[in-house]
Amino acid sequence: MSDLNKALDLLKKGEVVAFPTETVYGLGADATQFNAVEKIFALKNRPSFNPLIIHVASLEIAQCYGVFNEVAKKLACLYWPGPLTLVVPLLPDSKIASNVTAGLDTIAIRCPNHGVAQELMRHYNLPIAAPSANISGYVSPTKQQHVVDAFGVSVFSLAGDQSDVGLESTIIDCSSDDLVILRPGFITREQIEEQTGFCVKEKTTFGAINAPGQLKQHYSPSTKLRMNALCAEANEVCLNFGETTLEGVFNFNLSASGCLKEAAANLFDYLRLADQIAQANNIRSMAVAPIPKKGVGVAINDRLSRAAAQN
Ligand code: TXA
Ligand code: MG
Repeated sequence: MSDLNKALDLLKKGEVVAFPTETVYGLGADATQFNAVEKIFALKNRPSFNPLIIHVASLEIAQCYGVFNEVAKKLACLYWPGPLTLVVPLLPDSKIASNVTAGLDTIAIRCPNHGVAQELMRHYNLPIAAPSANISGYVSPTKQQHVVDAFGVSVFSLAGDQSDVGLESTIIDCSSDDLVILRPGFITREQIEEQTGFCVKEKTTFGAINAPGQLKQHYSPSTKLRMNALCAEANEVCLNFGETTLEGVFNFNLSASGCLKEAAANLFDYLRLADQIAQANNIRSMAVAPIPKKGVGVAINDRLSRAAAQN
């Protein structure tokens, strides 16, 4: 049996399957099967109040589960398939299991732009609920190995390369009159405003009810993290950017050429590596050089500030 057929078979039987997307790896289950979705929450140790994103192959299919007004349709037409999740009103009587939306009357929907994910969506004719394939609260996975590190071989995982984008999708709430970015990502607020002419607000406060997963403490490595470091302190692992050269005991550079897209793609992998090295060498702190807050740098800084929030 091919890996794809094995994945389809497992989903149908109510089991979970990990798969690559262009943002991060997802841990998927059939979004119409309550018990299958429960397995995601249990495996990740995810609080049940934190809703999941459903993954579909097209806008046409998305409209079987969510109500798309003209604005939401325009966003989907422009950015799907791609790293944008739309929060829209849940279509009444849709077959989505209630634990997917954590009881909300809205649903987050995404259409990934990744060959393996697309193939899975196209062949499985029901939506796949999938959060990032990491233990809740830890750094998201951008490599198949990260999924194995979290769940061992007990979770079947479709193979893929390192995720190109490397940060979770931008989430935009289209369920009310105001468009609000709930989670910044590769597709930026400025880009959406420029390309659509819509006015888009940025959510500035942490932990609001409509995005429970946006809690301040998130994406945290085990090692304490210091952002915007201008020099290394004694006994630190350092993550540099561009020409900044913090000299720690161990050093990485997110992008030596100062490219924000490259830094985004490397971020979670390097945070994991830095964390492992720190833990193995009894190092208590990692320092990250300043990352410009423009373009995808906004999302990088968002993830770093959540990772730093544990301190
Ligand atoms: O790139 C991604 O979006 C990845 C890949 C696997 O698709 N998925 C992902 O899922 O990042 P997760 O569960 O790690 O993050 C989903 C976020 C959570 O913060 C959750 O609270 C929010 O989406 N969310 C889900 N449904 C929502 C809703 N109805 N309203 C507001 N926020 C919602
Ligand atoms: Mg996540």
